[in-house]
Amino acid sequence: MTERNENARIGLWLIGARGSVATCTAYGLAGLVDGLLEPVGLVTAREPFAALDLVEYDQFVLGGHDVCTRELTRSAGELVAHGILKPDLVTSCSARAAAFESNIRPGILDDADVGFADVDPDSMRLGSLAPLERIEALRADFDDFEERHGLERTIVVNVASTEVVREPREEWTSLELFESALQAGESQPASTLYAYAALASGRPYVNFTPGLGASIPALAELAQRSKLPYCGNDAKTGETLVKTVLAPLFVARNLRVLAWQGYNMLGNRDGEVLADPLHRQAKLKSKNDALRKLLGDPDVHTHVGIDYVPSLQDWKTAWDFIHFEGFLGAKMSLQFTWMGSDSALAAPLVIDLARLAEFSARRGEHGAMKHTSSFFKSPIAGGTHDFHEQMRELLTYVERHRRR
Ligand SMILES: NC(=O)c1ccc[n+]([C@@H]2O[C@H](COP(=O)([O-])OP(=O)(O)OC[C@H]3O[C@@H](n4cnc5c(N)ncnc54)[C@H](O)[C@@H]3O)[C@@H](O)[C@H]2O)c1
Repeated sequence: MTERNENARIGLWLIGARGSVATCTAYGLAGLVDGLLEPVGLVTAREPFAALDLVEYDQFVLGGHDVCTRELTRSAGELVAHGILKPDLVTSCSARAAAFESNIRPGILDDADVGFADVDPDSMRLGSLAPLERIEALRADFDDFEERHGLERTIVVNVASTEVVREPREEWTSLELFESALQAGESQPASTLYAYAALASGRPYVNFTPGLGASIPALAELAQRSKLPYCGNDAKTGETLVKTVLAPLFVARNLRVLAWQGYNMLGNRDGEVLADPLHRQAKLKSKNDALRKLLGDPDVHTHVGIDYVPSLQDWKTAWDFIHFEGFLGAKMSLQFTWMGSDSALAAPLVIDLARLAEFSARRGEHGAMKHTSSFFKSPIAGGTHDFHEQMRELLTYVERHRRR
């Protein structure tokens, strides 16, 4: 079935439902449905995406998992205090926010996560179950959500805290090995269990975070077996977005980049998590890989520093210094600074990706959604990091699938 049923209701399930990105997504979507917001920052709201017959904002029903007990109104209050959410919007959309809150269920803690201040005791209990039992619990939540709301399908989007980086494991290389490891009760990163639960139960999966999620070959195989689309990893919203716009300029003009230094300051909870070196590693990897591949120089001197600066709150600030060489050996530099509200940049992309994943699923597409690479720092489908080329790929997809 490729025609959109205007009366169908579509689930948007957010893992990390009480976090800043999820909260901005929920209030943002409510504001769009109620006509209180313009769709600024939503890629799919611009032309030519109207030609795609994407699911409308008011068709989405929100639900999600989280491992903490922070109420959504508290997350919203923090974002109001940070100057991201407008108090009027929060007041006007309180009923829709309460409906979302009633669909939030305890998630599964990652084994490597310790020390969450407000951890949900139910998540602690779920986290102590065998991996297959955890997957069963997640699936039961998805099923119950769909049943209660009469949903046609649910898109699962992971916007949970950045996970620690793990050494690659052999069992991730094939579905058979991964499923044997699950049977044997071997512990796995929470993001892979969420992705497994979604893909094994017929739900497309979007990995908005740098965590492994569906990016391991075992889960690529599962997506193929289940005939489902998936995409990720780590949304490209700020400094890396600018990098992947700028780097092609140096390549095009044959200017030699000698060094590309970046320094990021984050003040939100994500910044607090990234203050831990093991969590930070995942973010640094996706940032550095993109630049090296774009410049075609695996040895280019590049370094990204990330520091947690609480007073900045959600206003992530980045400074980049690019040292480069031109004709005659002349050495020059370019510097830029970027100050963006992390969550306000991320939330519209969550909605875009949910709309695009729903469209792909409706058309019966399966595998990594290559056309969404412009949204990610480490596109699962591989390919170029050049933002301009990635956008061309997306627009070509739209052209190919436009309503006739
Ligand atoms: N904001 C951006 O511009 C941006 C860009 C790219 C990626 N991201 C990623 O999005 C994610 C969310 O960012 P945020 O600013 O909303 O962070 P946040 O800390 O405000 O929210 C994360 C939420 O995830 C929950 N969580 C942690 N472990 C979980 C688990 N195992 N299961 C379910 N929930 C869990 C936390 O309790 C928290 O409520 C981060 O991984 C971040 O790196 C954000």
